[in-house]
Parts: sequence; C-alpha cells; structure tokens
Amino acid sequence: DGSAATASRGPSGAAATLVERLLAPAGRADPYPLYAEAHRLGPVARIADTLYLVTGYQAVDQLLRDPGFGLYTMATGQGGDGPLDLLNRSILRANPPDHPRMRSLIGKVFTRRRVAALAPQVERAVDDLLDELAAERGPVDFMDRFAFRLPVTVICALLGVEARDHARLRPLAADLTEVLELTGPTTPAAETAAKDLAGRFAGLVAARRAEPRDDLVSALVAVRDADDGRLSDAELLGNLILLLVAGFETTTSLLGSGLALLLDRPELLATLHAATSAAATAPSTGAATAPSAGAATEPGTGDAAVAGFVEEVLRYESPVQVLTRTALVDGRSVADQPVPRGADLIALVGAANRDPARYPDPDVFDPSRADVRPLSFGAGAHVCLGNSLARLEATVAFTQLVRRFPAIRAAGDPVRRDRLVLRGLQSLPVRLGAAG
Ligand code: HEM
Repeated sequence: DGSAATASRGPSGAAATLVERLLAPAGRADPYPLYAEAHRLGPVARIADTLYLVTGYQAVDQLLRDPGFGLYTMATGQGGDGPLDLLNRSILRANPPDHPRMRSLIGKVFTRRRVAALAPQVERAVDDLLDELAAERGPVDFMDRFAFRLPVTVICALLGVEARDHARLRPLAADLTEVLELTGPTTPAAETAAKDLAGRFAGLVAARRAEPRDDLVSALVAVRDADDGRLSDAELLGNLILLLVAGFETTTSLLGSGLALLLDRPELLATLHAATSAAATAPSTGAATAPSAGAATEPGTGDAAVAGFVEEVLRYESPVQVLTRTALVDGRSVADQPVPRGADLIALVGAANRDPARYPDPDVFDPSRADVRPLSFGAGAHVCLGNSLARLEATVAFTQLVRRFPAIRAAGDPVRRDRLVLRGLQSLPVRLGAAG
C-alpha cells in the first residue's frame, strides 16, 4: 500500500487487462500487437499492489542487471522435495549466495574453450542431418527432423547422454517446460517428466562417478566430489536437467523461427545463399570441415551475413519471451518506478526487443539493422550460459542450409506451440528442393 503504488494506480487496470489478454489464446499466438500497446503504458506499469509489468528495453536490461532483484522459488505444489523442485535447486532459480557458487562451478566446466572445441562436431551434425533430409523425396517436418535434432545431438554429446534416448527427450522437455509458463498450477505431465529425467541423470551420474569420461556430467561429478558440500546432489541433478532442457528447447525455437522467416522472404534467402556461397572454399562433403578462411573471394562475408540474420531472428522472435524477478531488498526502482521489497515483476523480453525507443520500426524484420543487441539471452548475473553455443549452432545451421538448399520452400502451414513464454513452432513442413 505504498505511495508509489497509489501514484501509478491509473494505468494499473490497463496493465492487468493487457497481461490477461497476453495469456489468452490469441495473445499467446501473436503477442506483438499487445506489446505495442504495452509500450504506450510506459516502460514499467503496475499490474497490482505488488506486481509490475516491465516492457521497455532499458528498463528490462536494468532490472536484469540489478542485484537487488532475484528469482523467487517456483510453486510446484510438491513441498520442496518433489521432482519438479529440482529445478528450483538449479542455477536458473538461485539467488546469492547459492547463485555465484553454482555459476562459478558450472562455469569451470562449461567453458568457452569447451564450446569452441565443439565447432567441428556441430558442423558434422548439421551436415549429417542435412544429408538425411536431402535423401527425402516428399515434404519433411523441419522442426522434428532438424530444429530439434541438432541441439539435442549437441547437448547430449556435451553432457554424455546416449544418442538412443534422443527421440524420447522432445516430449519430456515439452512437458517439463510447461512449468515456466505463467499459467498456474503445474501439470501431472510436468511432474512425470521431471521424475523421468531425474531418474535418467541419477543413473548417468552413478555411471560416470564409477567410470569418468570426457564429458560434462563427469566434470560436474568431479567438481561435486572434490569439494563435498559445495554442490549438493539435488543441485547436481537440478542443473543437469536444466542444462539438457535449456540446451535444446530454446535453440529448437530459434532454428524454426529463423527458417519460417526465411521462407516468407525469398529475396533474403537468395541474399544469404549468395553470401554463404561466396564465402565457401569447397562444397560440403559431409566431413567435418573447418569453416573456410583466407582462400575465399570474400572471406567471412557469409559468416557476417548469417550472424546478422541470427541476431535479428533472436530480436524479432525471442525464444524466451518472458522472465520474472522479485525485489530482494528495499528501496529499488526500475525506470524511476519504485518497487517495494517482495514485489514481483514480469519482464517482457519479447516486448523489450521491439521497443520503438530502442529499435526504429521494431515490427519490421530487417537483418541489416545496426546495433542489434536483443535481450533474448537475458542480462546480468543469470545471462545465458549457453549463448555462444546457441549462436554457434544457429550460424552453422543456417550457413549450410542456405548454401546447400537455395530452393527450400514451405510445404504447408507451420503449427505454433501454444505457449507464451517459450515461443516457437511445433511443426514446419518444408520441401528442400534440389541441392544447390
Ligand atoms: C539462462 C535463453 C540456449 C543454458 C538463460 C536465460 C535466458 C536464456 C533468457 C536467463 C534466464 C533468467 O535470467 O532468468 C536462451 C536462449 C537460447 C539458450 C534464447 C537459445 C537460442 C542455451 C543453451 C544452453 C543454455 C544451448 C546450454 C547448453 C543456460 C543456463 C542458464 C541459462 C545454464 C542459467 C544461467 C544462470 O541462471 O546463471 N538462457 N538460452 N541456454 N541458459 Fe540459455
């Protein structure tokens, strides 16, 4: 009941209505017109006494970087030690002092070097998947046959999860991530998925503890065992589940949204094809070839064009649309709006990325925009640990895709997942056409 709350009483009805409309089926399907309305309420709007809506680019950035704001424990209805509560033990939901402790432990094994070393494996995985698709005569579902398989292959190789489990992981992750939507009580399917994943990882942890390999699970087990108590068993499991799910749910969306945008823009497809072909020294052979350097006519042109495209896809169709925070201390404010301790904030990352004060004509998809810095990987203490891996996968994927299949086209209507927070496609039928 603070004076700040009273001062912004006016817009609160509008913000509350807007959030309701966002959560309704039409809003989930296309939130962007509602984001445009949200910007008219100002960068921060009060939804209720202790609930705020943050939509401005600067405001979301400031909120995510301010250590005075943190995560609240998700209500799982499981009393703190059910399978879904493992996610609350992960780095994603942790506050200081747990967060910096886990972040430095996981950072020790999830290094830039480990990611950079994955480049040849990512190239090979992309080539193999595209070879399989090239052999198909009829239409194929790009989501199932590529957008899901690439990230799941890469993250499983990194973690050391057996390839034969891959197909089962897509529905499991989809069930589990339902808990990240803002739509209330967790479903039994999410609980079953969490239990299943926890069981798989418990088995894997035991196996790697007995016989370590050169994978992330072994490395995390070693870190855990070297200094007992610094990473509890629940934290180890929670973080492994998080790494697996964070490793592909979002990257799958990035790949699917990117291709859908390309299919709608044949001239852009042609431009990217020209750029990637000019930059290539040799046609793809299916072997693990390093990216071309030096010998090409215009070295790096294709990489820069594809990288710019990927950043604009991230801005335009953020795979994570919403982040939440809570005020951990008194006396904070966001964009000059005082926020009392204990108040919760809904940060619309997808809206921030389309803030007209930050990006002119924000609803236009334009890969040649200057200074694109989407907030799609978050910012501050929790900034995505996998962002360089996700960018690597997407640039390699789109480079090879447009280079090999310049005639790729839609073969039916895409089907969108019915989600607000984790935005992406469920299926995207395509015909690859003749290889270029
Ligand atoms: C955190 C997005 C891919 C691992 C985050 C956050 C965002 C995000 C927005 C911050 C959450 C918050 O502040 O509350 C994305 C997107 C991806 C992607 C859009 C793909 C396009 C990946 C990959 C991995 C990964 C490939 C791992 C292999 C993580 C982890 C965190 C995280 C471990 C937690 C970091 C922390 O809380 O300190 N991601 N992510 N992500 N992401 Fe990603």
